[in-house]
This record gives sequence, C-alpha cells and structure tokens, in this order.
Amino acid sequence: MHWRDEYSLGIPEIDNQHKMLIGLFDAIEEAIKRGETWSTTYFHIAELRDFSRFHFACEEALMRVFDFPDVSLHTAEHTHFLKFLSEMENSSLRKSVEKDLVRLLRSWVTKHIVGSDRDFSRHVFSGATVKAS
Ligand SMILES: [Fe+2]
Ligand SMILES: [Fe+2]
Repeated sequence: MHWRDEYSLGIPEIDNQHKMLIGLFDAIEEAIKRGETWSTTYFHIAELRDFSRFHFACEEALMRVFDFPDVSLHTAEHTHFLKFLSEMENSSLRKSVEKDLVRLLRSWVTKHIVGSDRDFSRHVFSGATVKAS
C-alpha cells in the first residue's frame, strides 16, 4: 500500500498526515506478508492507533473551524475505525485477524480518505468561511 497523488486533498497538513497513515498501513501489511511475529504487527497497530487518534483530532478540529455540516457523521466514521482497530488488538490474542485487518486498512483508503475526507476538502475549497470563535 503506497501513497498515490490521486489521494491528495490539496490541504498540505492533512495530505502529510495521510502519507504517514498509509506508511503505517503499509508497515502492518508488510509485517503480515513477511510472516513477522504477532508482536511486531501488534507494535505497528499500536503506533497506528496513536497516530490515528492525533490525525482524527486534527481533522475534526479543522471541520469545526470550517463549519463542515457533516462533522458528526465524519466523527462517527473515525470512532468506528478506532473501535474496529481496538477489537483487532484484543481479538488478536485469540485468533488470527490479519485478513480482516488488511481489509479494513484498504477500505479506509478507498472509502474514507478518497471519499469522506475528500467531501470535507471540497467543502473547504467551495469557499467555506472560517467560523469566528
Ligand atoms: Fe483523514
Ligand atoms: Fe477523516
């Protein structure tokens, strides 16, 4: 899984964070492909969980600043992702979750980053005004 220019939303800070995210997705997928020990994969998942929390907080703050109407729906998608990730962490102790995990990460890129996140960037570039605090 690699960054592609078509993933760019045109908001440099968010694009840079998405590059980081996809880098972490790739580290997880590669660790699984190489058949690394679960502890190595688990370490990458923990890194991804922490970085995702930071990234989602940035996006949600920006959405409030730009008065994005779908902020609640978008936040719910972020919450769902973190919940799924934590389920992966927990169930990994009992069964192999590798396929589900890779499926989640891939669909996050194709559905959330180039779908929901792009809806927000369209809102920003459609002339949305910054909300006075
Ligand atoms: Fe994002
Ligand atoms: Fe998002």
